[in-house]
Amino acid sequence: MSTKKPAPPKTIESVLKEDRTFAPSAEFSKDAHIKSLSQYRRLYRESIKDPQRFWARQAEKEIVFYKPWKKVLQWKAPNAKWFVGGQTNVSANCLDCHLETDRANKAAIIWEGEPAAPGKPGEERTLTYRQLHREVCLFANVLKKNGIKKGDRVLIYLPMVPEAAIAMLACTRIGAVHSVVFGGFSAQSVADRIQDCAAKMVITSDGGFRRGGVVPLKENVDNALKIKVGRKSITQSIQRVIVLRRSENKVKMKRGRDVWWHDEISQVSDQCPPAKLDSEHPLFILYTSGSTGKPKGILHTTAGYLLGTKLSSKYVFDLKDDDVYWCTADVGWITGHSYVVYGPLANGATTLMYEGAPNWPGPDRFWQIVDKYQVTIMYTAPTAIRAFMKWGESWPKQYRLDSLRLLGTVGEPINPEAWMWYHRVIGKGRCPIVDTWWQTETGGIMITPLPGATPTKPGTATLPFFGITPEVVDDQGRAVPKNTGGKLIVRQPWPSMLRGIWGDPKRFVETYWSEVKGCYFTGDGCRQDSDGYFWIVGRIDDVLNVSGHRIGTAEVESALVSHKAVAEAAVVGRPDEIKGQALVAFVTVKGSAKASGDLQQILRNHVGKEIGPVAKPDQIRFTDALPKTRSGKIMRRLLKQIAAGKAIQGDTTTLEDISVLAKLSRSEE
Ligand code: WTA
Repeated sequence: MSTKKPAPPKTIESVLKEDRTFAPSAEFSKDAHIKSLSQYRRLYRESIKDPQRFWARQAEKEIVFYKPWKKVLQWKAPNAKWFVGGQTNVSANCLDCHLETDRANKAAIIWEGEPAAPGKPGEERTLTYRQLHREVCLFANVLKKNGIKKGDRVLIYLPMVPEAAIAMLACTRIGAVHSVVFGGFSAQSVADRIQDCAAKMVITSDGGFRRGGVVPLKENVDNALKIKVGRKSITQSIQRVIVLRRSENKVKMKRGRDVWWHDEISQVSDQCPPAKLDSEHPLFILYTSGSTGKPKGILHTTAGYLLGTKLSSKYVFDLKDDDVYWCTADVGWITGHSYVVYGPLANGATTLMYEGAPNWPGPDRFWQIVDKYQVTIMYTAPTAIRAFMKWGESWPKQYRLDSLRLLGTVGEPINPEAWMWYHRVIGKGRCPIVDTWWQTETGGIMITPLPGATPTKPGTATLPFFGITPEVVDDQGRAVPKNTGGKLIVRQPWPSMLRGIWGDPKRFVETYWSEVKGCYFTGDGCRQDSDGYFWIVGRIDDVLNVSGHRIGTAEVESALVSHKAVAEAAVVGRPDEIKGQALVAFVTVKGSAKASGDLQQILRNHVGKEIGPVAKPDQIRFTDALPKTRSGKIMRRLLKQIAAGKAIQGDTTTLEDISVLAKLSRSEE
């Protein structure tokens, strides 16, 4: 057990009081996979009494292995190997398995594009399992033709189009390791990720539509591939760029490096047997923010991830064959990986993908889509729900939302007010809400209601999923009593857990496995109520949750100080009605630079360029000095209070220069 930085507050307070309880309706429970709380409790107890037996049984039932595993789990903390000795393939489990069933001609992906202009319908496409299988085989052969071999890293930087899922599945078919980069990230972020995982190929498009504009993805890739440190290109590992035609945006194609998706698939066969891959073969790397400046490449592997996402999709969303399931997340985030692509497809479900924004061309866009496709399950983020609340009930009221039977949320704690609105206005009081807690690192949902079984309370993710052992502990790693705040850890390994940080085993151990010996530390604060329900309080490290996106304050700080006018920067969060948290940057400028409104704009754009628009500070405050301890550590606690417009409270005796505080409170935007 060690107490390491960043030190969490002594007590983690949770002030939320919420007594309303909503039991699942008898009508819902009757047809649900798990029909009652007692059934859940019995299965859960079994699953944690002998986890290996439980997971073995599930793997036998849910996953097709070419070669059976010899050992369910090989565990030497923090290194887990699941289904050791087995061989399988994710794309085969998501596609081929369904071709010999009634699902072969069922819609696998329903895609709705962003309308080209207000008043125009969005483009639409449906791919059946058979069609998706063919597209994946074609593209897998394109990968091979372009030199991609098992284990090679492939960066995917695409809009929300079916080809994003096709590219991911094609990688898994041949054992290439994909790393999807969210289309809102900048050229610099693309380059950093290519450099970190030494990717051999980038798959991108000539553009992506977003709120009527075109995001110049290919141009960003071109710029990324030009970035040098000194005289050395940081992306020299890239040998090929495959470009999808999506927007008719004019792009430059570099001869010998860049090829068109449509040209390539016209030259290959549509037969591509899936590679037989070890259970622990790397599946993908997904970068996420941590508490230092450098994003972490979270590594997931084959069989365990597949099982975790398949099982959780089935039970949490209560998936049935006639569901139209819509998860609104972008494939650039873990939710898009696990619950747009892999989990639903492994279950043979129909997954809906939407390319655009929730409020373009109008704030009714989501409800239009629900109505048009008769969506039955909708999974979205609290930040979106808060925005819908602000836009008003009149938008959803124009549509028939009767097809909906289940609602879900993910990404941050949902405030009870937003939960109630979702329940009343969208769910019409009929639909259970599953508030699902999990992380990029956990691969799949960890704490969640099961919709036919668990009585819900607004604001809590309720109880653990099968086989998952979360616990709230104090700084010494001891379980705390009910209704006491503490750190959220997970005691036992689980199949879809991360297997490491790409290229950085030391950071893996330090970040996740040093807080409580042998246990996974989530970085979240939490409390359990008297019913054992888990209430997530939020991050206790320097990671913020802005509109459901994880942003490391250190990353934004290092982007700011990379600008020539900036001497020093400290970034903190302040509560925000829509985004959950907003970014406030305190900046000291270099001697010759002038703190001005123009410079604020320049710095915001600079962060946009360095990381991506999601990381642009909402407010930049110039200050002569930052509050520091005598050892030079910035006192973020004080900055947070100032950013939130609160009076300064707590100990300030460790401040090196107390006069800084008065100056800071005067620092204005
Ligand atoms: C937060 C997203 C409360 C939490 C799947 C976690 C939540 C971080 C919830 C992971 C929830 C996610 N209630 N907080 N239902 N879901 N979080 O990696 O702080 O983007 O650690 O994964 O989001 O964010 P990530």
